[in-house]
Amino acid sequence: MPKVNLGVLASGRGSNLQAIIDSIVAGRLDARIVVVVSDRKDAQALERASQNDIPHIHLSPKDYSGREAYDVAIVKIFQEYAIDLVILAGYMRIITPVLINPYRNRVINIHPSLLPSFPGLHAQRQALEHGVKVTGATVHFVEEQVDHGPIIIQAAVPVLEGDTEETLSARILEQEHRIYPQAIQWFAEGRLKVTGRRVIIEGGATYMSILSQPGMGTGGGGG
Ligand code: GRF
Repeated sequence: MPKVNLGVLASGRGSNLQAIIDSIVAGRLDARIVVVVSDRKDAQALERASQNDIPHIHLSPKDYSGREAYDVAIVKIFQEYAIDLVILAGYMRIITPVLINPYRNRVINIHPSLLPSFPGLHAQRQALEHGVKVTGATVHFVEEQVDHGPIIIQAAVPVLEGDTEETLSARILEQEHRIYPQAIQWFAEGRLKVTGRRVIIEGGATYMSILSQPGMGTGGGGG
């Protein structure tokens, strides 16, 4: 079976990109990252790609007339690299139908809350301000409406007394690094089927692959 080609879009730190790289290196994820594209020249994600010999490209939004024109350029790159799956990993731009349509049900995103709660920016701060006792992370297919598409996997994370945005974000991030590679592995195995808003994981997901496992970090990716 040919490996699934991943195209990653990232704007910042790139810790989710790193978790995906680490999972591939560890043999838990059967895919390859063929290109990383960033809208930010100084994105640490580009540096991480460079350190791992992954082709990486900075595309400045300033060089394009608008969102659509920018996404046309991204689609062109992704076609050149024969991308199968688009990974949004801390990508801060809203993507347009120009990019969504050719990759329908093949663009996935990670969001630091249990969607549909707290979509948009500062999801962890929103959770703290709302006073929820449990929040988490969600990997979902991307549709035109931001943070709205069919959900692939979620992990629950407790909100503890005395949490700040930083401590809560760190606890959620640990789970992000676990569930993002897991979702991609399911895609690579051809097990994700979208019917309406539901994503069916063919063959079933084990209880432990869905349940939040504090402290597991990037170590958990198994079935
Ligand atoms: C993560 O919290 C992710 O859920 C959100 O943006 C952040 C990106 O972090 N979409 P990183 O760049 O992967 O470290």
